[in-house]
Amino acid sequence: GKGAAMVTAVAYRLADQSRQITETLAEFRLTNEQLLEVKKRMRTEIQNGLSKSTQDSATVKMLPTFVQSTPDGTEHGDFLALDLGGTNFRVLLVKIRSGKRRTVEMHNKIYAIPLEVMQGTGEELFDHIVQCISDFLDYMGMKNTRLPLGFTFSFPCRQTSLDAGILVTWTKGFKATDCEGEDVVGLLREAIKRREEFDLDVVAVVNDTVGTMMTCAYEESTCEIGLIAGTGSNACYMEEMRNIETVEGDEGQMCVNMEWGGFGDNGCLDDIRTEYDRTVDDLSLNPGKQRYEKMCSGMYLGEIVRNILIDMTKKGFLFRGQISETLKTRGIFETKFLSQIESDRLALLQVRSILQHLGLDSSCDDSIIVKEVCGVVSHRAAQICGAGMAAVVDKIRENRGLDHLKITVGVDGTLYKLHPHFSQIMHQTVNELAPQCNVNFLLSEDGSGKGAALITAVGCRLRQELNS
Ligand code: GLC
Repeated sequence: GKGAAMVTAVAYRLADQSRQITETLAEFRLTNEQLLEVKKRMRTEIQNGLSKSTQDSATVKMLPTFVQSTPDGTEHGDFLALDLGGTNFRVLLVKIRSGKRRTVEMHNKIYAIPLEVMQGTGEELFDHIVQCISDFLDYMGMKNTRLPLGFTFSFPCRQTSLDAGILVTWTKGFKATDCEGEDVVGLLREAIKRREEFDLDVVAVVNDTVGTMMTCAYEESTCEIGLIAGTGSNACYMEEMRNIETVEGDEGQMCVNMEWGGFGDNGCLDDIRTEYDRTVDDLSLNPGKQRYEKMCSGMYLGEIVRNILIDMTKKGFLFRGQISETLKTRGIFETKFLSQIESDRLALLQVRSILQHLGLDSSCDDSIIVKEVCGVVSHRAAQICGAGMAAVVDKIRENRGLDHLKITVGVDGTLYKLHPHFSQIMHQTVNELAPQCNVNFLLSEDGSGKGAALITAVGCRLRQELNS
C-alpha cells in the first residue's frame, strides 16, 4: 500500500544520500600511485629550490639556515629564547649545563598575541613582543643581565648569517604590515631600543623545524631532520654544502629550512586538490600560497572539514539542512576538537556533546557523518605529509650513495602530538614510500625553545672563536 511505497522512497533517498556522501569523500582517499606521485613531485621541487637557475621561482624555497652542525654536548650557558609562530607565543629562559651531567633547565611563560596585533602594524607586533619580554624578565628578576637571545621565528626567512633573516612572506595567521622584506632581527633590536628599558644580545634567528631538529640531535646524534606538523607544516634537514648552490663553499653540510608548505603553489598538486581545498585557499589570508600546508596542517584541516559539512548541509544530508551561524564561523574546528572527535575511545554521544559545545545541534546520524569527514581529511593529511617526508629521506640516502639509510626525524607540533591517528598513519606512509630507509621518529620535547638556545650557544662560541 501507500505506507510501503513511502518506506521504499525513504530507503532509496537514504541509499542515494549515502552514495553521494561516499562519492564526496572518495576524492580524499588517495591511491598508492597518487602518493608516490606526490613524493616524486616533492623531489623535483626540492631540486628546484636548491639549484641556482631555478631557485628564484621555486615553490619549495630550501632556505639556508647557517646552522652547520648538530650539537656536540659542549654547549652551555644561560639564554633567552622567543618562540613566535606556533600555537602560543612564549618567552623562555634556558639554562644549559655541559660536562659529565648534561642538563637543560627551562622556565617559560605563554603570552597571548591578540588578533589585531597579529594583523596590525609591524611596529605594534614587535613592541608587543618586547613588552612580553619585559614582563618575563621582571617575573624572573633578570632585568639587569644582558642575556644572549635566540629568536625562534617560524616563518620563511632568507638568511645571510645566523643572526639575520629577511621575512620572505607571512604564513599561517600572521599579516602584520611593514615586515615582509625586512630583517626580523633588526625589527626586534629596534623595538628593544625603542623601549629603552633593557638590553639583549640577539644572536640567532631560528625556524621551529631547525630548533626541533637540534633539540632531538642533542639527545640522539642520528637526528638530521626536523618536522613540524602543527598549526603549519614544514621540514628541515642537513643537506650537503655542495648541493646548496645558493651558498658559497662545498665542504660539509648545512641545515636547510625547506618551507615545504609552499609545495603545490605552481599548480603541481592541482590534480589531487578538491573543491574544498580550493575554497579554504580562496578564503584564507594568503590565497594561492602554501597549498600543501593547507592540505596537511592544523590551521586548515578544520576548515576543510567545515567546508565539506557546509556543502553536505546544503545538500540536505546533515543538520536537517540548516546551516547554523556556527557552521559559518571560520576556525571553529581547532586541532584539539578534531582530535577529540576522532578519538576511538569516544562514544558517539560524546561526539555529539563536542559538536553541541561548538554550537552544532546534531542527531546521531549527523555525528557519524561528521566523524567520518574528520577521518578522511586527517588521513589524507597524514599521508601527504608522509609522502613529503619520504622524498626527504630518499634524497639524503642518495646524497650519501647508500642502498640503505637509517635516520631519525625530530618532530613537534600539535597535530602530531594531539591527534589520535595522524602520527601512526604518517609513519606508515613513510615506511611504505621509502622502503630503503629505516626512519625513526622522535618527539621533541619543547623543541623550539630549547633548540633556539642550543643554536644561540653555538653562535656565541663561534663569535668568541672569531674574536680570539
Ligand atoms: C609555516 C612557516 C614555516 C614553519 C611552519 C611550522 O609553514 O612558513 O616557517 O616552519 O609553518 O610552524
